[in-house]
Amino acid sequence: MTIAVTGATGHLGQLTLAALAARGATDVIGLARSPEKLTGAARRFDYSDPDSFDALAGIDTLILISSSEVGQRAPQHRNVIEAAKAHGVGHILYTSLLHADRSKMQLAEEHVATEAALAASGLSHTLLRNGWYGENYDSAIASAAQSGTIAGASGAGRIAAAARADYAEALAAVALDPGLQGKTYELAGDAGFTLDELAAEIAAQAGRAVEVSHLAEAEYRALLETMGLPGPFAAIIADSDAQAANGALFDDSHDLSRLIGRPTTPLAGIVRAALG
Ligand SMILES: NC(=O)c1ccc[n+]([C@@H]2O[C@H](COP(=O)([O-])OP(=O)(O)OC[C@H]3O[C@@H](n4cnc5c(N)ncnc54)[C@H](OP(=O)(O)O)[C@@H]3O)[C@@H](O)[C@H]2O)c1
Repeated sequence: MTIAVTGATGHLGQLTLAALAARGATDVIGLARSPEKLTGAARRFDYSDPDSFDALAGIDTLILISSSEVGQRAPQHRNVIEAAKAHGVGHILYTSLLHADRSKMQLAEEHVATEAALAASGLSHTLLRNGWYGENYDSAIASAAQSGTIAGASGAGRIAAAARADYAEALAAVALDPGLQGKTYELAGDAGFTLDELAAEIAAQAGRAVEVSHLAEAEYRALLETMGLPGPFAAIIADSDAQAANGALFDDSHDLSRLIGRPTTPLAGIVRAALG
């Protein structure tokens, strides 16, 4: 069985290739805009370039890691799904967003469109709806350890983040076991944490006090812009945080730890990794 992984040069793609190899998969192809950056079997594949779509020839299982080009993702993913169908791909695993079907996060829109395109395609598929990566907090954690402050708009909302490596292992587990396919998984960290709990953990590991600045969505967006984030990106981050205050990034299904057969990376591990 030949498995291909899109976004193979990205963080999650690299970890997914490693997780597949760790589980003994040998017939694996990395798909990327720059395949020369990959070791192992690789083919050029660009979600926006139909000339590259023959890369899907002979693929049985396609791991479609969502594109990082926010705003272009729905048409890009539709391209991939149509090309997969044309090339006889047997099964697609798609990395969606936690509770995409009911999420009010702006980021959900492109995932909902992709899930609909998969359903309409008639292709056999599995939805892995990923919660937040713990790594999303890496720079905030490092900066809080230096400055003693952390800011956000997630209020008392619990964020069930897990490490990218946890999500990658889940992708590998499902790709290699047809018995796990054809379902929708809500993937999230086992425990979750609030912004206050994150600050307390940083304080404990950095050995200094960390104050929390609880901001309204508009204030957080403005702060992110002053830190150099482009306006639209700052707006999406602030929107996600504000929705997290309402529970959008929390889930207690434990689908992720069940799939990977171990607990997800805890808050202490997320902070430890960020502090290097
Ligand atoms: N759950 C979360 O917290 C969270 C956070 C951030 C992102 N995400 C989503 O999860 C995905 C994977 O995360 P990540 O951390 O691995 O992101 P990443 O490191 O930025 O990797 C994104 C990958 O997408 C590829 N890509 C972008 N545009 C493409 C195109 N037109 N054609 C083909 N490949 C293209 C990139 O290729 P190049 O190397 O050529 O640029 C890269 O390999 C992201 O793309 C995003 O959709 C989720």
